[in-house]
Amino acid sequence: MSIEKEVEKRRTFAIISHPDAGKTTLTEKLLLFGGAIQTAGAVKNNKIEKTATSDFMEIEKQRGISVATSVMAFEYGGKQINILDTPGHKDFAEDTYRTLTAVDSVILIIDCASGVEAQTERLMEVCRMRKTPVIVFINKMDREGRDPFDLLDELEQKLDIKVRPLSWPIGIGHTFKGVYNIFDKNLNLFAANKTKISEEIINVKDINDPELNEIIGDSATEVLREEMELINGVYDPFDPEEYLRGDIAPVFFGSAVNNFGVKELLEAFLRISPHPRGRDSDHGFIKPLDKNFSGFVFKIHANLDPKHRDRIAFLRIVSGKFERNTFYNHSRNVKKMKFSNPTSFMAQDKSVIDEAYPGDVIGLYDTGSFKIGDSISSGSEAINFKGIPSFSPEIFMELENRDPMKSKQLDKGIKQLTDEGVAQLFIQQPGNRKIVGTVGQLQFEVISYRLEHEYGAKCAFTPKRYYKACWMTTDNQKQLEEFIRAKTVYIAKDKDDNYVFLAETPFLLQMAQTDYPDITFHFTSDFK
Ligand code: G4P
Repeated sequence: MSIEKEVEKRRTFAIISHPDAGKTTLTEKLLLFGGAIQTAGAVKNNKIEKTATSDFMEIEKQRGISVATSVMAFEYGGKQINILDTPGHKDFAEDTYRTLTAVDSVILIIDCASGVEAQTERLMEVCRMRKTPVIVFINKMDREGRDPFDLLDELEQKLDIKVRPLSWPIGIGHTFKGVYNIFDKNLNLFAANKTKISEEIINVKDINDPELNEIIGDSATEVLREEMELINGVYDPFDPEEYLRGDIAPVFFGSAVNNFGVKELLEAFLRISPHPRGRDSDHGFIKPLDKNFSGFVFKIHANLDPKHRDRIAFLRIVSGKFERNTFYNHSRNVKKMKFSNPTSFMAQDKSVIDEAYPGDVIGLYDTGSFKIGDSISSGSEAINFKGIPSFSPEIFMELENRDPMKSKQLDKGIKQLTDEGVAQLFIQQPGNRKIVGTVGQLQFEVISYRLEHEYGAKCAFTPKRYYKACWMTTDNQKQLEEFIRAKTVYIAKDKDDNYVFLAETPFLLQMAQTDYPDITFHFTSDFK
């Protein structure tokens, strides 16, 4: 098959949600449609349970399971679908943000009773920043929830994106009768059904057809007709281009656990979602059909067995064709690399592949050559992709060595762990002080555990009361140098040797901004 056809065939996306909205359930139903799994419950184990907050072994065990299910590929309707899993646990949010750089679109799940929740807002912020096309699935319609119009308003307000319903619920909770598919103009009646993947679909050419009264009853029909009129009055017709630009989010309603509305979602998704897109690099915009192969590492997973230090680097292919046992440029090293056992991830199986195409995610065995954001490519020059952002951590701790004999091991360990993206490392001079920043408390426990068990180093953490790490840009180099001199104790360097300002409070950040007006402070490193 030609590379154009391979690209056209692929859809690479992530399902994102606040924990408990139904991500695991929806993923599983999608896999059932693709025939990638046969039984319900197969994906369930991938979750880092809410209760497992500080049980290392439990986390490790669950991390192990999640390697296999980090990427789930399956075929449906002639398309190859790659779902990238994102950890639901809040402390792993940074991991999710990075995964979002490797997808071309997302499906965002909202619980119809809870509406937009804290994590939904943050995830959506990342999508907006990257202009990622978003489809919203409002889930759990079989339960009592909020009024659908209120939910749509809340989505627009809190997520700062225009929405357009493409399906509409008939009732909710105990009055839930089904979903009217605005896109295809047919009616899908609800029958609680956890195992089968068939649905009862009735074609309704005209919503004013009296047959509708017979099917769902007079009062439900009347409400539906009124609501449809309202929708058509309030919302503009759906424009797929606007969705692809990330300016509007189509909305679907359903119940994942009952497998209701999932097929409509999947089929609409396949019709409108983008195929693999290019990415910006230091060599300009790289398109999927460019001749040379290229890809970037967005996730690194350590081996669970401490005796084997190898890791799996997850590579998203951006352009060209990847081939096994072929030498490629590494963005930071002069030496070329080849891979003899690249793996693909078809649902729960890993298998060695000979070739892969744009949109695919493959696993490369790595003995420490990769860090997140690295690229590999063919052609005469190495390529560096832009925009694997770091976000300001929320918790900061100074790393202290508890065993002076093992300082080398500690240095190496913390470097490798932060290369893997477990946490961010900021080095302060003088004194080579190491400040570790994370989104959640859990990472510190993971770090001390892994430093001890994998590197034989003992550490302690002292809390630092920083509010944000701020990356800085300016056209006034002199002012920046002055600032760095004046604030030495609050300045550190990140993994790429960029200066960051560790602001202790919002007020101090504001002061810095007033006193040094030519410097712009950013909460993310993705400003290039
Ligand atoms: P997550 O990955 O986003 O965290 O959510 P997950 O799919 O695990 O779903 C969270 C809970 O919501 C699960 O219940 C799941 O069964 C339920 N759920 C998912 N979709 C629907 C739906 O459409 N309707 C209703 N009523 N419930 C739904 P649980 O009690 O936590 O787990 P389980 O014991 O039922 O498996």
